[in-house]
Formats: sequence, structure tokens, C-alpha cells
Amino acid sequence: MAATLIDGKALAAKLKQNVLTEAKTLPRKPGLAVILVGDNPASRVYVTSKRKDCEECGFYSEEYALPAETTQKELLALVAELNGRADIDGILVQLPLPKGLDEKEVLLAIDPAKDVDCFHPYNVGQLTIGTPVFQPCTPGGVMEMLKEYGIDPAGKRCVVLGRSNIVGKPMAMLLLHAHGTVVMCHSKTPDMKELAASADILVSAVGKTGLVTADMVKEGAVVIDVAMNRNDAGKLCGDVCFEEAAVKASYITPVPGGVGPMTRAMLMKNTLTAAKLHQGL
Ligand code: GUN
Repeated sequence: MAATLIDGKALAAKLKQNVLTEAKTLPRKPGLAVILVGDNPASRVYVTSKRKDCEECGFYSEEYALPAETTQKELLALVAELNGRADIDGILVQLPLPKGLDEKEVLLAIDPAKDVDCFHPYNVGQLTIGTPVFQPCTPGGVMEMLKEYGIDPAGKRCVVLGRSNIVGKPMAMLLLHAHGTVVMCHSKTPDMKELAASADILVSAVGKTGLVTADMVKEGAVVIDVAMNRNDAGKLCGDVCFEEAAVKASYITPVPGGVGPMTRAMLMKNTLTAAKLHQGL
């Protein structure tokens, strides 16, 4: 392997340590409420990890595990109650929501000052004009990794695979603000392979095992794998064929232990930001 491994786990631990240090100085503990509707097993795992992260960072946390039959009205009522709570700084509604619930309406109902996921249209707008209060967690985590390893997107060709609201779009926006030349590829892009192979920084957020092969990686490229897939053997893996891509890349993220822990650390950072905001700091 020629590439340097980007250790997301170690960097996330460092970030969380910094969050804990700062949280201890606040008059009131930061508080995070996590809402999980239904019993998606992957979501269950994420929610449990978030509880652990809150403990590590010295936060107060609450978890609402609601049945899949929860109505839109009930969910909106819970969000409204949490919006009004002085001890809750951040509200996270775990996505995807079960069928029948209107995700857009729920995200719009969250107080933008408690929107630690950075999913509310107000915060998405702030991000787009370059004055974000919160960093979108996964793309923000990627930017922290680039910074830590001295990789500056300015003037680089950055190719983002995937155009989701959670990752692809905000990722492109952050890279653009960092002065990268950004290309977005998606399911209707006919020449994705060629475009990927032209990238100095390649970010894959599609969710398709084996998507990024060695021929899509330029010699010396930085390869960031955002995906969390399961292969046929049930093993956690990303979009990138890691072994072959690592031969050509200069830097590469593993899955697991790459972007995943960074997403969680950024959520803690955003909750701290919200707590400071709510305490007039
Ligand atoms: N589902 C997958 N990723 C995320 C995330 O970052 N936040 C929320 N709320 N749901 C998700």
C-alpha cells in the first residue's frame, strides 16, 4: 500500500476530547435529544453510539425510541416540546423515517438553533451562502480530516460521487467554499469513471460496494470513502475497492474507522456550539 491511512477514529477521539474540555467550562451541560422512529437495525446502532459519545463528552442526553406506527402529529408534538425545553440544545431525528411520515415537514419543524444535523432549510441556506452556524456532520468531518492531514482543496479538482442532501450536496458546498473546483457525479452521469479518474480529491458517497475501482483513482489522489455498506459476507465496507485504490492513492480513509467516527464527533461539536449559543456564549 502506497497511501497514508487517514485515521478517523484517532482524530474523532481527539475532537471529542476537545469538546469535553470545553463542555466542562459551561455553566450548563450541553443536552442532546435523539429521536428514533421504528426499528431500523442500522439506525438503532447509530443511536446507541450517539448515547456513548454524549457520555464521553460530558453531555446530557435523551433518547426517544418511538414505534413505527407513530403518527406525524405525535412526532411533530414531540419536536415542538423539545424545541421549548431549556435543557435541550440539539434535536436529532434519525433518518430515514418509516414510510408514511413526512421527513421534510419534520426537519422544518426543528428549531434551526437546535438543528445539530444541519438539515433545516435555514441552515442549509446559511451553509450555501458561506455563513453556517452548524457544520453538516459527515461533510464537516471530511473537511476536518483533510485539514488534519494538511490537504488543502484550494485549486484542486474535487469529485463528489452522490448527490444526497445528507452528504453529496453539502460536501460539494464545503469543498467549493474551500476553493476546490467541484464536480458532482450521480446516477445519470454518463462518464463518472473518467471524471473520478481526474480527481485530486475523490469523495464517494453512493452506497454501492465495489463502485470505485483502481481505474477511477488518479495516481496520488486523496480518496475519501463515506459509504457504510455490508458486503455479501455481512462485513462493513465502503464504496471503494480499498486494497487496489490504496496502491494508487496518496491518502485514503478506511471503512470502518474512517469517516464514520468523524460524523459522530462533528455531531458532538455542533451540540456544543448550540449549547454555547443558547447560553449566550
Ligand atoms: N441517517 C444517516 N445519517 C444520518 C445523519 O447524519 N443524521 C440523521 N439524523 N440521520 C441519519
